[in-house]
Amino acid sequence: MEINGATVLVTGGNRGLGKAFVEEFLDRGAKKVYAAARDPRTVTDPRATAIELDVTDHASIERAAAQAGDVTLLVNNAAVDRLTTSLVDGDREDIKLEFDTNLFGVLDVTRALVPVIAANGGGHVLNVASVLSWLPWGAYGATKAALWSVTNHLRNELRPRDIGVTGLYVAYIDTDMSAHVTQPKHDPRAVARAAVDGIAAGADEVLVDEFTRNVRAALNVDPTKLLR
Ligand SMILES: NC(=O)c1ccc[n+]([C@@H]2O[C@H](COP(=O)([O-])OP(=O)(O)OC[C@H]3O[C@@H](n4cnc5c(N)ncnc54)[C@H](OP(=O)(O)O)[C@@H]3O)[C@@H](O)[C@H]2O)c1
Repeated sequence: MEINGATVLVTGGNRGLGKAFVEEFLDRGAKKVYAAARDPRTVTDPRATAIELDVTDHASIERAAAQAGDVTLLVNNAAVDRLTTSLVDGDREDIKLEFDTNLFGVLDVTRALVPVIAANGGGHVLNVASVLSWLPWGAYGATKAALWSVTNHLRNELRPRDIGVTGLYVAYIDTDMSAHVTQPKHDPRAVARAAVDGIAAGADEVLVDEFTRNVRAALNVDPTKLLR
């Protein structure tokens, strides 16, 4: 996928990794970058095209897809982590919000934008997952595990429509989501750079760091033992 001249839509493009994606695409010659956000007033990059999009709201998704009829590259970045580490005692509403945002949000935005990308002659979808796609980690981990499967399925389903699909897998990134974490964290811009390199190369998966690569390579190990 050629980044130069692409028209990109990044969900959650107002802050964190999404903001880094917007900057990376613009710096690499994208023709237009829609920074999609629940509140478009929070998009601060003047080079970006701010657009309203709540990935859990069907009407909002439809409006955004109608407005962004020139998109060729979709980045499903928006997500929430409600830190529901207990699947038994955790708040069910929090668990539902994580699935509604991180899984159904990705699916619904993709379903709305695939016809747009196909009508523009094909393009690419990047799904931002996590190393926690492969480790048992509460509801958030479960959403990212499901996203891995969805991403793999979409890669096959969208190939005949000339749409490539890349999954991004990575450990901690230095954003609001991991503000409570004291372990080393990646610079969001470096993660965005690695992911965009992967899109440009047509990679199925981008494994950003050694920890993620080791976990991916250990998928034959009982996951509960792996985490211990
Ligand atoms: N941070 C990490 O350590 C880490 C590690 C691996 C993977 N990731 C993944 O990286 C991606 C970006 O996360 P981040 O670290 O940048 O998190 P973040 O700093 O918490 O930002 C989350 C973004 O998602 C948006 N968002 C949340 N719910 C939304 C909704 N319903 N509709 C539209 N946008 C919504 C937020 O918008 P508002 O400003 O409106 O809240 C914000 O732009 C996520 O997929 C995350 O799972 C993060």
